Amino acid sequence: MSSHNHYSPFLARIYDKVLHIPVRKIRRSVAEVILNEGAGKVIDLCCGTGNQISYLRQADISNAIGVDVSENMLKQAWRNGLKDFCLKMDASATTFDDSTFDAAIMSFSLHEMKAETAHKVFDEAKRIVKADGFIIVVDYSFDKHTRIAGRFAVKAVEKFVGGDHYRNFKYFMANDLLNKFAEDLELKEQKRFLMGAVGLWVFSNNHTWHQVI
Ligand SMILES: C[S@@+](CC[C@H](N)C(=O)[O-])C[C@H]1O[C@@H](n2cnc3c(N)ncnc32)[C@H](O)[C@@H]1O
Repeated sequence: MSSHNHYSPFLARIYDKVLHIPVRKIRRSVAEVILNEGAGKVIDLCCGTGNQISYLRQADISNAIGVDVSENMLKQAWRNGLKDFCLKMDASATTFDDSTFDAAIMSFSLHEMKAETAHKVFDEAKRIVKADGFIIVVDYSFDKHTRIAGRFAVKAVEKFVGGDHYRNFKYFMANDLLNKFAEDLELKEQKRFLMGAVGLWVFSNNHTWHQVI
């Protein structure tokens, strides 16, 4: 749980304002996927300031909650009117029962964690989402369609944040971790945003991943 310390009170306060224009289309797309799939209970793992949850609520998806470990980000979520919806909890070891939710969202979070933690958060999503539910990931991803300016902008932002965050980001990208975490899930849909530098993936949580002992 060491990866959350870099969210200073200042960063938490400006986060939504800085990201508003780049992310609004992505936030709306996530809400659209959830509406189309007809999900009831939704969990946003590593919800930060709760910005995605605000977009879900605007789309009349009211049964969504989030968890995060950063007090500064959570305080901003509470200032955003989400006190009852954003809880302090480690997403890699939540207290929710198996199959509690219809959908989980992990947005702009996996890339900044140690690989081991990111893997645990992903596994936690599989565990707490129902077998017929789905998992939505939004994160950086470069492929042949990604524009050079997109790659450059993402790398510049991550380098600016620096420290463990940047090291983890480089490892996440170089090792294609998302595809490794999701290799036993069925990909339903993929979209790209921000000059092709950000992906939105929708996976069915088919539960074939359960270990048979
Ligand atoms: C870049 S922010 C993204 C926030 C939000 N999901 C969004 O789309 O704007 C990454 C968030 O992951 C959170 N985080 C990192 N490790 C975590 C963990 N183990 N459990 C819960 N939250 C975590 C950080 O505190 C931070 O708020």
